[in-house]
Amino acid sequence: MRNIHAAITGVTGYVPKDILSNADIENLVDTTDEWITTRTGIKERRILKEPGKGTSDMAVPAVEELLRKTGTLPEEVDILICATVTPDMQFPATANIICDKVGIKNAYSFDISAACSGFLFLLTVASKFIETGSAKKIICVGADNMTSITNYQDRSTCPLFGDGAGVVMLEPSEEYGIQDHLLKVDGSGRNFLYQKSGGSVSPASHETVERREHFVFQEGQTVFKVAVTKMADIAVEMMEKHNIQSDDLTWLVPHQANLRIIEAVARRMGIKREQVMINIQKYGNTTDATIPLCLWEYEDQLKKGDKLILTAFGGGFTWGAIYLTWAYDSK
Ligand code: UT7
Repeated sequence: MRNIHAAITGVTGYVPKDILSNADIENLVDTTDEWITTRTGIKERRILKEPGKGTSDMAVPAVEELLRKTGTLPEEVDILICATVTPDMQFPATANIICDKVGIKNAYSFDISAACSGFLFLLTVASKFIETGSAKKIICVGADNMTSITNYQDRSTCPLFGDGAGVVMLEPSEEYGIQDHLLKVDGSGRNFLYQKSGGSVSPASHETVERREHFVFQEGQTVFKVAVTKMADIAVEMMEKHNIQSDDLTWLVPHQANLRIIEAVARRMGIKREQVMINIQKYGNTTDATIPLCLWEYEDQLKKGDKLILTAFGGGFTWGAIYLTWAYDSK
């Protein structure tokens, strides 16, 4: 019996139209375009400005476009999973809200929370439903409205984040698709990158809001060092496990948190700049959306059989790598 793989058969993305440039950030906090550019690689990010709109409102147009692009009817979808750290609300799951807004009625749906590594955890979980034959069409959404939890009084975090949604369709394939995954967590890293209040340990109160604890808190330097080591280690482990030489790899698709992290990981893997998908300069760190937004933007350059390694590191700590072969030539 041949193995069934979960293959990506379509990808779409959505970013809000409003741009927050480095010049705009200069007007908010004590920083410069030069500092942000050299330390992070970010020039601008997209921001969802419309009041009353949230993560699902970015996912919905991307899912609708995916259905159209892949010729899928809403009732054909078996499962929809959303990776996010900025759900529309604590509950119910944002995935349920997306299904309702798009008219997906026969699927079940749920959210996954693994911070910036969320899309890798999501692809891994979703691939198991496909590999076991229990689902034929799964929509995987990575979406975050990071600017809703960004503290625009904190210069060490506010230049980093942006909003967006990336979506892929997973379907069975005998040859192409997800070949392997490596996922890791280390909960002892939880206090270096997190949201201090708004959960059950420290519920929202007047005081927590005054202390601005509902925004992202990060000890950047610590996270930076661990991110470089862990992402590079796990990507190299994946290459060695599958005997992939630097020249054999078509694309590295790294989480977009910092251009210096991406460059350090690529150096450790021995690959060239032309083999790396990068769009951090335009969107900043969109957390769960970075990897699918890269796939969306580079889709035109992808060919059937291309070898891709996806890798990410994020709060938790969480990190991982996925090795997959691309399933189609884009038209
Ligand atoms: O996506 C999930 C995982 N997250 C990451 O991977 C992010 C990892 N961390 C980073 O990307 C980097 O640590 C940052 C971009 C957040 C910060 O860069 P850094 O090179 O680590 O800077 P730093 O925190 O060590 O700060 C260096 C200096 C400090 O000043 P002093 O103490 O040397 O005088 C900061 O106060 O830069 C100062 N600084 C700024 N200066 C101008 C911090 N933020 C700013 C700013 N503008 N926006």
